[in-house]
Amino acid sequence: MTAQQQYLNAMGIDVWQRRDLPVDAIIETSPPETVPSEVKPTVTIPVVADDVGIMEWDRLRSTVASCELCSLHTTRTQTVFGTGDQQAQLMIVGDAPGVDEDRQGDPFVGRAGQLLNEMLHAIGFKREQVYIANIIKCRPPNSTAPQASEISSCHAYLQRQIALVQPAVILAAGELTAQYLLKCDETLADLRGKEHRYPESDVPVIATYHPAFLLNASAEKRNAWHDLLMARTIASEKIKHDVTG
Ligand code: URA
Repeated sequence: MTAQQQYLNAMGIDVWQRRDLPVDAIIETSPPETVPSEVKPTVTIPVVADDVGIMEWDRLRSTVASCELCSLHTTRTQTVFGTGDQQAQLMIVGDAPGVDEDRQGDPFVGRAGQLLNEMLHAIGFKREQVYIANIIKCRPPNSTAPQASEISSCHAYLQRQIALVQPAVILAAGELTAQYLLKCDETLADLRGKEHRYPESDVPVIATYHPAFLLNASAEKRNAWHDLLMARTIASEKIKHDVTG
């Protein structure tokens, strides 16, 4: 590990690097805003137990905890399942656990997570009132970008979490997650500012910046706030509709 990587790790900042590059080739301090072609959803091949799609929370959680479908089980400290209100109207999806999440077992608990909590607070939500999960449940080694096989191994888990929560809206954090959920390869710039639909269940999806990106791009925080407001409006309308019938 380079001195730079040690320093960033100590600060809880994930350093994304390609797994086929030498460690000293690290150049980014936040998840890439573009998705390598090998992680695009068009190449996903489902490789999971048949009954994940009908599992209830406890079984789903224990199945994920003992999952060995991809090689990430050999390097993880523990799986990072997801957390929050299982009946939340707002669901946040990120890409992959980082070093803090791997250590603590919960998503978004590092610096990016603290910013996410503040962003939620700014639109009137407490962290416990939303449901937070990632596309993949294990930390990629050295915080490398998730590989296509890892994403497809975890696909059914996130799909089932979304089906169980039945959120009014999903906030997709970062370009990788937005492209994955929407099964497209448009840029985040093209995806932001519009309401999309999660193809598998028609849930509205709002794409926004990844909080780790915002840590180094304060000027975009205002735009992110607008994205969150859009998500809150959809969630509030659903709550109103459910109350008034
Ligand atoms: N980044 C993510 O996408 N998810 C986490 O849980 C932490 C950092």
